Amino acid sequence: MEKQNLDWSNLGFEYRPIDKRFISNYKDGAWDEGTLSDDPEVRINECSGILQYCQEVFEGMKAYSRKDGSVVIFRPEMNAERMANSAEYIAMPPYPVEKFVEACDAVVKANLSWVPPYGSGASLYLRPYMFASGPVIGVKPSDEYQFRIIAMPVGPYFKGGAKPLSLVVSDFDRAAPHGTGHIKAGLNYAMSLHAYVDAHQRGFDENVFLDSATRTYIEETGGANFLFVTKDGEVVTPESHTILPSITRRSLMIVARDILGLKVSERPVKVDELKDFAEAGLCGTAAVISPVGKITYKGEEIFLPSGMKEMGPITKKLYDTLTGIQSGDIEAPEGWIHVVHPGK
Ligand code: PLP
Ligand code: COI
Repeated sequence: MEKQNLDWSNLGFEYRPIDKRFISNYKDGAWDEGTLSDDPEVRINECSGILQYCQEVFEGMKAYSRKDGSVVIFRPEMNAERMANSAEYIAMPPYPVEKFVEACDAVVKANLSWVPPYGSGASLYLRPYMFASGPVIGVKPSDEYQFRIIAMPVGPYFKGGAKPLSLVVSDFDRAAPHGTGHIKAGLNYAMSLHAYVDAHQRGFDENVFLDSATRTYIEETGGANFLFVTKDGEVVTPESHTILPSITRRSLMIVARDILGLKVSERPVKVDELKDFAEAGLCGTAAVISPVGKITYKGEEIFLPSGMKEMGPITKKLYDTLTGIQSGDIEAPEGWIHVVHPGK
């Protein structure tokens, strides 16, 4: 199969309509079989629940080409389960886990020419999402929904790839203490945009949210969880009920403990502790692990000892091991790799 003629190694993280997307509709209490479509446009009622009350959830995952020509997805059942949890939390009918994975397979298989080649550093980003398509005017859940999976080839989330980021601790909150911070709903991302624009206008790459109850603990950024490395080599990640349970972060903690033999801990991390860490990184499907070089808090610049030029050594080991597992160069823990296309 011939690949598309793209500059694969220089792709950004941008939307690009490609050949096929999967669409399934929920009506009269049931999901239909779903179908692949050529049409990138969505047509919905002017009073749809998504337009009036923001009833929407989504996922982010990637398909990778391996050296042997096979194409795989990383832990798709985890995304399927998280999306079902997200949906139930905002009163939407969950899309069945098994059908979710089958639909991901169908989208990848129908767009094989768009899956970036092995070694390009790029991947096929999958964006499953579900929204209230039926009309509502009183505040209540819709009766009708649409589930879609779109896909597009992407490169690094942050421009500059592995260059350490400069972050700023935000003055704004992302998630309420008993709210929706732990689900992947578009409404959380709308909440983060003002802080995002504010940080970028002030020249930072990204903003850091604190817990909104006490504003003393590190939570996450608008699109990634944190990993820190202590000066004696322990990998620490913030524990919080108001952040997204990142699949990348949970996988990296297993990689750190079981493959790299490092000490790991998931615990609340005080913003005052930032100055004690040796390395920091942002992790997620899109971010992979993006190193952090500097965090500004209340006007004070806190430089991570790993510096502003390259990834810290432990962050690099985590990055190499995770991407090695995804591209098939390192043996994966059981069940982490879902083969979509067998290759040669
Ligand atoms: N936190 C937020 C707010 C995110 O949007 C994402 C991206 O999905 C993550 C963390 C990382 O999660 P995952 O590793 O499952 O992609
Ligand atoms: C992802 O990492 O897949 C995300 O969804 C983060 C961001 C692009 C919203």
